[in-house]
Amino acid sequence: MRKGELHMKLTMKVNGREVTGEVEGRTLLVDFLRSDLRLTGTHVGCDTSQCGACTVHVNGELVKSCTMFAAEADGAEVATIEGAAAEDGTLSAIQQAFQDHHGLQCGYCTPGMVMTAASLLKENPKPTEHEVRQYLEGNICRCTGYHNIVKAIMAASGQEMPAMAAE
Ligand code: FES
Ligand code: FES
Repeated sequence: MRKGELHMKLTMKVNGREVTGEVEGRTLLVDFLRSDLRLTGTHVGCDTSQCGACTVHVNGELVKSCTMFAAEADGAEVATIEGAAAEDGTLSAIQQAFQDHHGLQCGYCTPGMVMTAASLLKENPKPTEHEVRQYLEGNICRCTGYHNIVKAIMAASGQEMPAMAAE
C-alpha cells in the first residue's frame, strides 16, 4: 500500500470464517479474496465484468467480485468456491456433477460456473435446459464447453438433458 493512500479496516465472514483485513478504498473484492486471503479459486478472466470467472456469493446473492469494492463487503457473508466442498473434501453435488459429466476442460471458468449453478438451483431447483442456459448468460467458457456444463447442472438438479437438445 502506497504512503498517503486512503485505506480502511474491514471484517467479513468468508466461507463461514471471520476474516479481517486492511485495504485501499479502491481494492476490488476479487483482489482482496485472491491476494489478501489467498483464496485463488476465484479467478479473473477479463477486465470488462463480462466473463463471470470471479463469481462469488455475497449475503446469498450472486456477485461478480470484480464489480464490487472489498469495502462494500464489510460485514457481509461471502461464499467462494473454496467453501463449496465439505471440510473432508467431499465435493458438492454440483462439483461432482461437473466431474461426472465432464463439465470442465481447462477449468478456468469452472469456479464461477459452479457458484452460478449453486445460486440457480437454490432459486430454481428444477430448471429447464433453457433456464440453465439463460442463467449462465454472465459466465463465459472460453473452451466453449457449454453443452457438458449445462448437462452437469441438469444432472445436479436430478434431471437428464434430452439427448440431442443442446447439440
Ligand atoms: S473477472 Fe469478473 S467478470 Fe471477468
Ligand atoms: S473450461 Fe476452459 S474456460 Fe471453461
